[in-house]
Amino acid sequence: MGTEADRRFMRRCLTLARRAQGRTSPNPMVGCVVVSLDGHVLAEGWHRRAGESHAERVALEKLGGKAVGASLYVNLEPCAHLSKRRTKPCAPLVAESGIKRLVFGMHDPFPGHGGGLDAIRLAGVDVEGPVEESACRRLNEAFVVYATEKRAHFTLKAAMTLDGRIATASGESRWITGEVARAHGHRLRNAVDAILVGIGTVFADDPLLTTRGVRGGRDPVRVVLDGKLRLPLGAAILNSGSPARTLVATRKDAPLRREHALLAAGVEVLRLPSRGGMVDLGELSRELAHRDILSVLVEGGAATHASFLEAGLCDRLLLYMAPRAIGGDKAPSWLGGRGVLRLDMAHELCFDTPPRRLGRDLLFSATRVRS
Ligand SMILES: NC(=O)c1ccc[n+]([C@@H]2O[C@H](COP(=O)([O-])OP(=O)(O)OC[C@H]3O[C@@H](n4cnc5c(N)ncnc54)[C@H](OP(=O)(O)O)[C@@H]3O)[C@@H](O)[C@H]2O)c1
Repeated sequence: MGTEADRRFMRRCLTLARRAQGRTSPNPMVGCVVVSLDGHVLAEGWHRRAGESHAERVALEKLGGKAVGASLYVNLEPCAHLSKRRTKPCAPLVAESGIKRLVFGMHDPFPGHGGGLDAIRLAGVDVEGPVEESACRRLNEAFVVYATEKRAHFTLKAAMTLDGRIATASGESRWITGEVARAHGHRLRNAVDAILVGIGTVFADDPLLTTRGVRGGRDPVRVVLDGKLRLPLGAAILNSGSPARTLVATRKDAPLRREHALLAAGVEVLRLPSRGGMVDLGELSRELAHRDILSVLVEGGAATHASFLEAGLCDRLLLYMAPRAIGGDKAPSWLGGRGVLRLDMAHELCFDTPPRRLGRDLLFSATRVRS
């Protein structure tokens, strides 16, 4: 939908919106471009973080609130309600700005929200959209899941060999992939609200879970799945000097004595119901969303990945594949658990982009097939 110029300006909105990746939750990433009748960009803006001005306001304020006869591009329908942080709605501002045309990328995914477009149409503005809708939904996929399912969005990520292994039989996993792929992984961390690992990975690898090396990066919240509160006080994540919070998701019957020790070390302990002896991931997904943690990068290990897939909570899968093989029947693959016995029970995913080359490695991206 839309003209070639409409699609170009919408892609510019997405580029602007992306500058605030990992900074806007529980709000979406939004960019806005105001364009004159003869196709010149008059002003741009993007939503920098929750609680700050929305993209449309930032762009229009650069023009003193008025953009008579202009076209306004924005990747999400302008809101018509007070936000959770009481930021003023944008639809009245857009309606009163004097623009002639509004081009939007996607509708407001919150059931019962919307209404912004009607208010703008009533002011005599031509409304066009959705334009570049799938790219707009892709950028804000975590926000869409939050709006429609009231839970966090999970991206499962692993670095594996050509034969699907994430470590050798002796447990060595550093490093499977090359520097370019690992740097890409650090940038991913910078774009999410939280990173999650199972306690098995803490014991095996003692990871830092930081965005080291990313210019202007900030470390996301660290979440550890640890049903028995075994997280050692000497673990690297607790001693890295990072200002990021660490949250341990545990079972209701986990030892109290350990909880006191972890609390004293500045860790937040989340006691949740269990399912099959493990932390219930459905409960965790809602609890994280309740804490404004919308996008989570699940960095393993194999048991953790299996639990997320089995719980229907693998929204996206990112697999870095190195051109090397380990072999043997003891080296773990990225997906543990009991596995399925029949092919018709296999977890179905769908590659949404072609593999991407990262140095000597490849990156595969797949999304869940919703039944
Ligand atoms: N190459 C890579 O990208 C990569 C990345 C990460 C890890 N790894 C490798 O993966 C291996 C570790 O994986 P792993 O499978 O042994 O351990 P894991 O998945 O890291 O941790 C599993 C443990 O987490 C706890 N847990 C609590 N709730 C859970 C739930 N709902 N689902 C799953 N686990 C839950 C359980 O311990 P409790 O019963 O004590 O709660 C469980 O035993 C290591 O060899 C590591 O090097 C590789």
